[in-house]
Amino acid sequence: MKVLVVGNGGREHAIAKKLLESTRIKQVFCVPGNGGTATTQGCQNLSLNIDDFQGIERFVMVNNIGLVIVGPELPLSLGIADYFQQRKMMIFGPTKAGAQIESSKSWAKELMLEAGIPTPKAAVFTDAEAAKAYVLEQGTPIVIKADGLASGKGVTVATTVKMAHSAINTIFRGEFGTDNIRVVVEEFLTGQEVSILALTDGITVEPLLPAQDHKAIGEGDKGANTGGMGAYAPAPIVTPELMERIQEEILEPTLAALQKRKIDYRGVLYAGLMITPEGEPKVLEFNCRFGDPETQAVLSLLETPLEDLVLACCQQRLGEYSIRWKSGASVCVVLASGGYPGSYQKGKVITGIEEAEAKGAEVFHAGTQLKHQQLVSDGGRVLGVTAAGETLEQAISKAYAAVDCIQFEGVYCRRDIGRRALGDKN
Ligand code: AMP
Ligand code: GLY
Repeated sequence: MKVLVVGNGGREHAIAKKLLESTRIKQVFCVPGNGGTATTQGCQNLSLNIDDFQGIERFVMVNNIGLVIVGPELPLSLGIADYFQQRKMMIFGPTKAGAQIESSKSWAKELMLEAGIPTPKAAVFTDAEAAKAYVLEQGTPIVIKADGLASGKGVTVATTVKMAHSAINTIFRGEFGTDNIRVVVEEFLTGQEVSILALTDGITVEPLLPAQDHKAIGEGDKGANTGGMGAYAPAPIVTPELMERIQEEILEPTLAALQKRKIDYRGVLYAGLMITPEGEPKVLEFNCRFGDPETQAVLSLLETPLEDLVLACCQQRLGEYSIRWKSGASVCVVLASGGYPGSYQKGKVITGIEEAEAKGAEVFHAGTQLKHQQLVSDGGRVLGVTAAGETLEQAISKAYAAVDCIQFEGVYCRRDIGRRALGDKN
């Protein structure tokens, strides 16, 4: 079978490589892909835009592609799954209605409140002054969230009223879109964050291994938020008992609430949770897709063929599977361009990937490009160096031994990915 993967990140490179582990997968096409998918055997990039549904459809038809997997949220929120389903083509990812779980935080909040899903208290405002008055009433710290898709930039954890008011002003100035502006003002929670990526076929929902992302740019979780500087799986904070609670209190009721809204959700339901100091799992956000870089860590431990699970979701047969995992742990360390998440330079020549892979790691590309047969940086997050080991400690040492082989001007990475799970304080 031939598969087409939509997206150009580390997540998509990991999905493509995982698919190619199976002898059943003959070829993977990536729209538009990156320098990694361009150089992976069996993979080919297509220079189409991710919102060019007609162009993608034409390629799928002409080339007899059996399955389309969508990585990022944007095409899902624009209705790519509806478009392909209407044409009876196999596509993995929820419809536009289902993608609202990520594309509208107020919609997701309403769904959670209605279904009794544990989530921090919040209020939704369409008026800046009312939102500001609510902040004054509630006090700080408090969390201000733009309602729509904001590429991870729409959330401010405000420690002062001034900061909260300024975040509200930014949102109502139209920074994250000018249509139907809404703001969600949410109670601030402390605890540990965990990413639960679950597969669903609209009938059953099966969590993958719990993972932990590292959103801040600096070690010890200091500094500005990024798209994710590294991840590890499984996250030991999620004990089997806690996973059972997450299944019963969060995943199943969410699926039931989607069904109640007549939404046929087939894809990934990603719950971003805060595990409070009392051990309660609460939903901070939902995403309608695989997480990046969690996917890189999680898929490297997956034993059941990925295409089996994805097809089972599309064909509503997920109940037939019990997902098998390799033992041990996996970690993904992101190598970023100097200056990220602020401004940074592109076009830096990357060397040492082969040496890194010789250390037993897999190097997934994110912001890279093949230019004149040379691999150069092309984004903020450039590579995700991923290694598995019998223990998390072994996975971490293997990953960093590989990281140290790779060079490009200005390269930056956090040196503490996964350390928290080993009991290090930060
Ligand atoms: P979100 O996109 O909603 O997950 O928010 C991005 C990040 O902001 C999260 O990963 C958390 O680190 C932080 N955050 C969001 N909501 C809250 C909250 N209610 N309490 C504390 N931190 C939060
Ligand atoms: N790692 C966070 C995300 O994918 O949204």
